[in-house]
Amino acid sequence: MRDLSESNLTDAVLEKLAGVTDARFKQVMTSLIRHLHTFVREVELTEAEWFAGIQFLTAVGQKCDEKRQEFILLSDTLGVSMLVDALNHRQPAGATESTVLGPFYVPGAPELPNGANLAEGMPGGPTLFSGRVLTVDGTPIARAQIDVWQADAEGFYDVQRPNLNGMRLRGKFHTDNQGRFCFWSVRPTEYPIPTDGPVGQMLLKMGRHPYRPAHIHTIVSAPGYETVITHVFVEGDRYLDSDAVFAVKDSLIVPFVSHESGTAPDGTKMDRPYFTVQYDFGLKATM
Ligand code: BEZ
Ligand code: FE
Repeated sequence: MRDLSESNLTDAVLEKLAGVTDARFKQVMTSLIRHLHTFVREVELTEAEWFAGIQFLTAVGQKCDEKRQEFILLSDTLGVSMLVDALNHRQPAGATESTVLGPFYVPGAPELPNGANLAEGMPGGPTLFSGRVLTVDGTPIARAQIDVWQADAEGFYDVQRPNLNGMRLRGKFHTDNQGRFCFWSVRPTEYPIPTDGPVGQMLLKMGRHPYRPAHIHTIVSAPGYETVITHVFVEGDRYLDSDAVFAVKDSLIVPFVSHESGTAPDGTKMDRPYFTVQYDFGLKATM
């Protein structure tokens, strides 16, 4: 193993995996090394570019703390997160499609009764979100859980508002015997993903905008069914075709229907404009 050159260096590195007993680790590392070396050869990476890459990855790591995960943001903006999601969640017809979790999920949202209002003083047009949780055959699932979180109408999650005490625009609901749930919230708006780090600089250099189309996040689960992590997107949003993290699917886009005032479908008397949105989630049974 001397006098290694551009023609035999890759093989020399791969040979180092000969004794690895974990077959999956060996497969992943072999492919990773091959592709990395192929990339370096293909673009004839200069030393300056190699060092810029090292500096970039270092900055990505340094931006991470318990609240910020810049590596996941990098994965999201390069489409890797959605590729991993696609490979791991091939859904049958009738099952809701999945998307990225995103960095703003907070475990432990309060359990709320159907009809509760998540928004409590947050800016935005009142919105009644109702729907059902069904099997792929359309049978209602009772006691399914819908864990919801979203940004407000100014594009901020509660965790991005340092003066807020406690959770807002987050809650867990459970379906009734007919698989139904409903809650009040506000109509979300488009917002930029965090751009104050190296990933933001990368997007700028690529000439890409950082926006995500307006959406409401959900994790839908029920015993005996595969949990689905997904969003519901607002129909008509201008960023549906250019989501910064490539997470939009047609099946997840729904109209937010506007109403002037009157009695909402859940019986609430509204003396100001509001929206209604409906979505039925489908869950695939576990094997
Ligand atoms: C989000 O929707 O919350 C999100 C997803 C990926 C990256 C940044 C934000
Ligand atoms: Fe989001």
